[in-house]
Amino acid sequence: MAPWGSRDGFVGESSVSLTRRGLRVASAVLVTASATLLAGSVLAATDTAIHPALWPKATWPLPMDAALEQRVSALMARMTVEDKVGQLVQADILSVTPDDVRKYRLGSVLAGGNSKPGGQLLANAEQWKALADAFHRAAMDTSGGHVAIPLLFGIDAVHGHNGAVGATLFPQNSALGATHDPELMREIGEATAEEVRATGLNWTFAPALAVPQDVRWGRSYEGYSQDPKLVAQYAGATVEGLQGKVGTPQFLDRSHVVASAKHFLADGGTKDGKDQGDAQISEEVLRTVHAAGYPPAIDAGVQSVMASFSSWNGQKMHGNKALLTDVLKGRMDFQGFVVGDWNAHGQVPGCTNEDCPVSINAGVDMLMAPDSWRGLYEHTLAEVKSGAIPMSRVDDAVARILRVKFRAGLFEEGLPSSNPLAARSADVVGSPAHRAIARRAVRESLVLLKNNGGLLPLDPRKHILVAGDGADNISRQSGGWTLTWQGAGLKNANFPGAQSIGAGIAEQVKAAGGTVEIAADGHHSGKPDVAVVVFGEDPYAEFQGDIPNLLYRPGDDHDLELIRHLRGEGVPVVAVFLSGRPLWMNREINAAEAFVAAWLPGSEGGGVADVLLRTREGKVAHDFHGKLSFAWPRSAVHGQGSPLFPLGYGLTYADHGTLPALPEASGITGEQVPVGNYLERGKPVHGYGFTLRGADGASTPGDVSPAATSDGALRMTALDYKAQEDARRFAWRKSDAQLVITARAPMDLDRETNGDVLLITTLRIDALPGKDAWIGMGCGKGCQGRVELGPQLASQAAGQWLRIGVPLKCFRKAGADMHHIEQPFAWGAGKGAEVAISRAALGTDADQVVDCAK
Ligand code: BGC
Ligand code: BGC
Repeated sequence: MAPWGSRDGFVGESSVSLTRRGLRVASAVLVTASATLLAGSVLAATDTAIHPALWPKATWPLPMDAALEQRVSALMARMTVEDKVGQLVQADILSVTPDDVRKYRLGSVLAGGNSKPGGQLLANAEQWKALADAFHRAAMDTSGGHVAIPLLFGIDAVHGHNGAVGATLFPQNSALGATHDPELMREIGEATAEEVRATGLNWTFAPALAVPQDVRWGRSYEGYSQDPKLVAQYAGATVEGLQGKVGTPQFLDRSHVVASAKHFLADGGTKDGKDQGDAQISEEVLRTVHAAGYPPAIDAGVQSVMASFSSWNGQKMHGNKALLTDVLKGRMDFQGFVVGDWNAHGQVPGCTNEDCPVSINAGVDMLMAPDSWRGLYEHTLAEVKSGAIPMSRVDDAVARILRVKFRAGLFEEGLPSSNPLAARSADVVGSPAHRAIARRAVRESLVLLKNNGGLLPLDPRKHILVAGDGADNISRQSGGWTLTWQGAGLKNANFPGAQSIGAGIAEQVKAAGGTVEIAADGHHSGKPDVAVVVFGEDPYAEFQGDIPNLLYRPGDDHDLELIRHLRGEGVPVVAVFLSGRPLWMNREINAAEAFVAAWLPGSEGGGVADVLLRTREGKVAHDFHGKLSFAWPRSAVHGQGSPLFPLGYGLTYADHGTLPALPEASGITGEQVPVGNYLERGKPVHGYGFTLRGADGASTPGDVSPAATSDGALRMTALDYKAQEDARRFAWRKSDAQLVITARAPMDLDRETNGDVLLITTLRIDALPGKDAWIGMGCGKGCQGRVELGPQLASQAAGQWLRIGVPLKCFRKAGADMHHIEQPFAWGAGKGAEVAISRAALGTDADQVVDCAK
């Protein structure tokens, strides 16, 4: 039997309709089906009782250290309750200043995915160091009689020091899983730690020990594998790489950083793969699947663990004392500290971002309160004084944090910029040695799924076309958590020292005497001997990466067409697929002779050429090594049928089999609606209604243009933006009229509101005489959150297209109930206004962002 298994199966049996409304129905049906199969665990799923004695033990590797304890208690004896509460609060660098740190004695700051020194995307190492120094000086300032306690400065260095320009970008974790090489994890950890230290920071929010069970989850690529065994194998090695090995002089020395195993627990087990969702699983699955990485991380001395945004059977992890305290700190003997996630405490029932004694009492030692730190500090202080948070709990939390700071030598090491690595940051960040490790990781992570006729390896002395929109696109090959949170809005120029996959191929082909053309659209002057088509997912991270099924770019087949077109010309095609996760690829796999899963390889695109090409002498320098750490799906319906390519699958050049044609029905029918898109090319997307509402409140359908409200207050006409009639122009003849997009069923956008997610309107202002314009989200009768745009738009040059983004939190602030959004998009303006609109969608990549904090 073919290794890819039976070709029979579900395909064609299922006709689940995934229209916007159908989605709920469809997933309800699927859930019922699996509920019947898993009746046992469903019963358990309502149960939130935890039995710590059943959980695996771990051994904290650091013996009790009397001298350390002495230092901690001596310091704590000098601390006021204010000093102590300050240690429990972490603020984001975009919302806190060194003076704030000085005043509030905060214990930690972080740089969130979009937070850079001075708000500059391309801040250089000097700017990072200067900022770290400024915070350090503030924390160490004893002028007010304060005790000096150095800061932990954390960042998401999750695939290298990915927030810093010019850093080595290692393959994302789902790629690293395919290497099955724990030693490599150690080397990557070491290199990453050095680059972080070189810019003045001392803590990374890594490794992610998620065990993703449903790759519709947009953060699947942050996990090494769906297989708990592999995650467990990697956990200790990565922690030791980042922190140094316990018992050696390197442990937490000046070349290493504090690590943070995350997200505890079952971030990768949420229902339908929903980010920050609910893991509806038994205690046994929680323990045997999702907890697998924690005991080895603790055995390796991981100094912090980040609590998960997600829930277990309806209970938020940030309030789960049984798991955070009884299991993690008790049974597993974890003696570092627990850090919360980004305002995640605010999602615990009864809490807000500014107030959450429950989380601290449950065992979170430091709350991540990026923009909410001040209120949180005040409330926490009051609660400690009132006894709502027991002093013993505060002392335990503070002692845990201080121990880490002492162990990491922060009290002795002086200014961050005085670190020897920081002194030579230009040589350390993106160093050739680190890039060589990354390139090896790229080579080891590539998984060969098909190689019919032995098309690979390629002869570099030929004429090779590198096509597809990933051919020369470092952002696409790097994915999310790359310079920006979602990895959106980047150009190759933003990646000094990096190499695209196409550039890597070109380099080696030219050196061997061959010729190369690189063209995203596949255009070529001479007929290529072979084409390498590099294509794949757009970068994404939290929320934005969640998908309803395993279709790749539903409704947009341009990559497939490109492959087919080249084949039609008689050019053999190697498909190189860039993605954070396996997706349903049967058609693309069929269309190409060879298919390589390249994951998100990062900055060293040359590693792909190393494996795809022979040497100029005709030898194979590097064979394929990668084996799937996530099973490849047979259909686009999650969980249906056996995998097409099981875990551990991956061909080498020694394999000479032929993959027969795969069935081309995805298992999904119905129009596919990208989640979070409301208006596309001037029209409401499927599943949404579009109306014009007059000043008198009467509604007129907006689906067909031209249209006008019956009171004549608002007129709509079609307009060309990039294509024929792909925009609408709205003219207000009276004030108080609006255009409204309505969802068929209320939507819950609360979780998205927690991040930097924006509602982005692509628009052009033609006239705005009264400077009066607003955008809104409606939450039912009489419920609307409106954000004023007039002042910002009035300064826009008339006639210019612009993507203007409004943070979702602005709508919440303006009164919208984000749990219950009925109208995700409404727009109004004053008399005389003339505005063209082409698109409205959630996203992060806008030309201008409205600041509603002002
Ligand atoms: C993510 C964490 C991350 C933190 C800081 C959160 O939204 O869930 O993984 O460490 O933000 O950026
Ligand atoms: C931050 C990320 C964070 C996310 C939480 C973003 O604004 O940049 O670091 O993880 O919000 O949703």
